[in-house]
Amino acid sequence: MKVPSLTHGPAVGGSPAGPGPASGSSAAPEPAPAAFPPGFVFGAATSAYQIEGAVQEDGRGASIWDALVQRRPQLARPHPPAIACDHYHRYREDVALARALGLKAYRFSIAWPRVLPEGRGAVNTRGLDFYRRLVDRLLDAGIEPVPTLFHWDLPQALQREGGFLRRGVADDFAHYTGTVLRALGDRVNRWITLNEPWEFAFLGHGLGWHAPGQRRPWNFLKLIHHQLLAHARAVEVIRVAAPQAQVGITLSQTPIHPARPGHAADTAAAAFGNDFFNRATLDPLFRGRYPDRLWQRFAWFRPQVQVGDMARIATPLDFIGINNYQRERVRAAPWLPLLRAWLEPDASIGPEARTAMGWEIHPEGMHEVLTWLRTDYGNPPVIVTENGAAFDDVLHNGAVDDPRRIDYLRRYLAQVARALGEGCDVRGYYVWSLLDNFEWQEGFTKRFGLVHVDYPTQQRTVKASGWWYRDFIAQATAPARQAHLARPSP
Ligand code: GCO
Repeated sequence: MKVPSLTHGPAVGGSPAGPGPASGSSAAPEPAPAAFPPGFVFGAATSAYQIEGAVQEDGRGASIWDALVQRRPQLARPHPPAIACDHYHRYREDVALARALGLKAYRFSIAWPRVLPEGRGAVNTRGLDFYRRLVDRLLDAGIEPVPTLFHWDLPQALQREGGFLRRGVADDFAHYTGTVLRALGDRVNRWITLNEPWEFAFLGHGLGWHAPGQRRPWNFLKLIHHQLLAHARAVEVIRVAAPQAQVGITLSQTPIHPARPGHAADTAAAAFGNDFFNRATLDPLFRGRYPDRLWQRFAWFRPQVQVGDMARIATPLDFIGINNYQRERVRAAPWLPLLRAWLEPDASIGPEARTAMGWEIHPEGMHEVLTWLRTDYGNPPVIVTENGAAFDDVLHNGAVDDPRRIDYLRRYLAQVARALGEGCDVRGYYVWSLLDNFEWQEGFTKRFGLVHVDYPTQQRTVKASGWWYRDFIAQATAPARQAHLARPSP
């Protein structure tokens, strides 16, 4: 759950861009590279709409984000997502950058409207060819391609029929999945069905900050249910089309704490908040049911759950993708319909402990999330499919010195190592993001990349954090390599 801070705007004056760790956070100890077991995969992530551009090229159809940007032209100033990072044309350079950083996996997303411009029906072969070229380039570079099938860019043609409010969208998603698997199933071995169903449901259809820009929070559970049905249908398709492949889903998971510890109303609000932000997806996927508190709270706005739905949704997965950036605090708000609680960031936490998004830097939250997956959900194989930070990076003399991002990554990786040491089955960690990119309602004003993008020139510059990550990956995977090399030849 990543709702830009409601009371804390982006860090006032931005983050100190100068060298040296931020004040208030001494350079954290390096996470012990040996803490990461052989086979642990370090990567980075992006998504189609945030980097590709070429939104009207080679037969691509319109997405709900193209439609939203047309309605909200400020999202295209000063740089349009219609161009973004021009990755559609520069993917060779970007794969080379991923290789230079020593990435072992690259998570990207496939734009549904680039494959099926109308959401179903005629296949756009030029769109599929782009993803074939991208995947082949990654494989040639020794990087595992990890596509997300849906990262929020629904074809606008399907939105006109109701989008994910329509239960039948699951059939469309299954058809789209089959189309992609026929093209890439012989060379991709790890698939992610959906990215962050919570954000798509609530930010896109509740708060209206994201596409399709609806403000109907009462539809939340219907949107969760229809997305999870679509996920289940996609898993069924992948199991048949690519039996050898691994398949999972990516969920945002954010610790929700009471704004006033020990305060009964806030404690109750945080418990519901955990149901709403986290268990709304985890419980159906792992337990085949929605949290009771949530089901009761949305009693008047429940989805139609047909016989067999929950069993299909709870179909076993090979891994669970987790996106964690921060934690949130909630305060009881009895006047607020349905939620009766809302975020209340800790005013005592200043910009030195926040990212440029205003999010609190709280590495312990990563450990908390990984731990509850181990203790409450059967310790499933986990890939951290997103973790990273926006800071106000400055390109100076052809370089970007971003010590705060290095400090952030170091501290969160230390918590992943801590969770591994306690038995959490974490298989990989992907930084968000490879490139600076379109940060949704924030436009291009927030930079999450390991690589700086100068949008007017499209010049890429690896930031200090990119080189730090490269060196960390080399150290963390060296033991595995040494063990492999030391293994007596058969
Ligand atoms: C998300 C999306 C990404 C965001 C990133 C930073 O998790 O919201 O997957 O597209 O850009 O998380 O907010």
